[in-house]
Amino acid sequence: MKRFVGQVAVITGAGSGIGKACALRFAQEGANVLCLDVNDSANEAAAQECRQHGVEALAMHCDVTREEDIERAVQTAMDRWGRIDILVAAAGIYRGAPLAEVPLKQWQLVIDINLTGVFLSNRAVAPIMMKQRSGSIINISSMAGKTSWPASAEYSASKSGVIGLTRSVAMELAPYGATANAVCPGNTRTEMVEHVAATIAAREGITPEEWLSQRAKDCPMGRFAEPWEIAGVVAFLASEDSRYLTGQAIEVDGGMVMS
Ligand SMILES: NC(=O)c1ccc[n+]([C@@H]2O[C@H](COP(=O)([O-])OP(=O)(O)OC[C@H]3O[C@@H](n4cnc5c(N)ncnc54)[C@H](O)[C@@H]3O)[C@@H](O)[C@H]2O)c1
Repeated sequence: MKRFVGQVAVITGAGSGIGKACALRFAQEGANVLCLDVNDSANEAAAQECRQHGVEALAMHCDVTREEDIERAVQTAMDRWGRIDILVAAAGIYRGAPLAEVPLKQWQLVIDINLTGVFLSNRAVAPIMMKQRSGSIINISSMAGKTSWPASAEYSASKSGVIGLTRSVAMELAPYGATANAVCPGNTRTEMVEHVAATIAAREGITPEEWLSQRAKDCPMGRFAEPWEIAGVVAFLASEDSRYLTGQAIEVDGGMVMS
């Protein structure tokens, strides 16, 4: 399928995991891609892989918490291609600790990257999509935005916030024919999950492998997602097939939240 030929996709967190899988999926389907990340070498490698699909792909250093970085990135896309059709806000981090031990700085860091970063990128592209009278915003939330577990206050709060933010953005874009949706992945095989496994396993006195295999068993499908499985749903949300779908928070979690 080549559903996005001539379109422009801006992806935050494009250097790794779900963001990278989305960048590659849009490139495979013909879109020019602006890859944004703080990890410059990984981000450039992702853009390089995108270019192998015959599209233009730029890698730019962008910290999603910095207003000026986001504005510069959006301006670069507009100067180069004159439009933005797709925004995927995937940049995110996980930190977790029992509530009484969460330092204020850790809370603020997670909220800044996972929620304020999404706000800044949505705010920057919304007027462009309204003017174009088309466009798709896809914000990566989490199953943690719909349910929760202990020692994840800041992560869950940030991801629930993304769902609320997405609904409001969807309301503002709807009259202009543009959409905003959130995707709520379950456990997905990325560097983030490796980090989560190491953190929680250390706290629980088990190995990361034991923690990973227990979490896979919690899921009705009995396994983790691969990043491309999340990217497939993101691509659907950017496609013509989902033009009447907006303001939703879609669980792509192997049945985890419903169970
Ligand atoms: N992996 C999972 O199981 C899972 C589940 C649910 C939701 N998510 C969400 O999916 C998104 C992607 O996570 P992932 O698993 O691919 O993680 P990842 O760690 O593999 O990738 C995250 C990327 O975001 C980048 N990043 C971090 N801080 C940034 C900042 N301030 N500005 C710009 N880029 C920044 C990192 O450099 C990295 O390249 C996150 O929002 C995460 O919360 C992941």
